[in-house]
Amino acid sequence: MDFMELASQRYSVRSYSDRPVEQEKIDLILKAAQLAPTAVNYQPQMIYLLRSKAAMEKINRLCRCIYGAPMVFLICSDERKTWKSQTEQGYSTGEMDSSIVCTHMMLEAWEQGLGSVWVRLFDVKAVAKAFNIPQYIKPICLLPVGYASEDSVPYAPWHDVYRDISEFTEVL
Ligand SMILES: Cc1cc2nc3c(=O)[nH]c(=O)nc-3n(C[C@H](O)[C@H](O)[C@H](O)COP(=O)(O)O)c2cc1C
Repeated sequence: MDFMELASQRYSVRSYSDRPVEQEKIDLILKAAQLAPTAVNYQPQMIYLLRSKAAMEKINRLCRCIYGAPMVFLICSDERKTWKSQTEQGYSTGEMDSSIVCTHMMLEAWEQGLGSVWVRLFDVKAVAKAFNIPQYIKPICLLPVGYASEDSVPYAPWHDVYRDISEFTEVL
């Protein structure tokens, strides 16, 4: 699919069917995660694929934004591997790197005919504890993925209300 077509068609899917996601498609989404650019190509992402009954029960208890998806990627940043600034005390690119990774995954999912929704409405500490995630791995976001249900529609009014380009651009 042409990139602009994909970017304008994609929307956050908040209603999923039970249809399981094929392993080949999961592999392609993970390939997209692998190809994502990260600072100095350090690739600090750590991705957990939640899909067992136990994992799905847990994440549904901890987050109300799973929307019936059959699986969820938990995208994290391995803080041991992130690029750290020498001049800005405490600054690392972990969250930025993971966001690029998640964007790649979200767009590849759509390319594969799958819906997804980027989710940050969860308690990072509670999720880390529930999945025994070590302290140096920082959860950044969730990406529920699956086939959209037949009645899935973009949420109004957020989906296609865009600011004018001139409003957020300044040529200097
Ligand atoms: C950083 C970030 C955090 C988000 N967190 C949530 C969330 O917790 N729950 C949710 O339902 N959607 C969440 N979204 C999805 C946005 O609400 C959605 O992308 C936005 O409204 C635009 O709609 P669209 O994706 O359908 O184009 C998040 C998106 C981003 C980029």
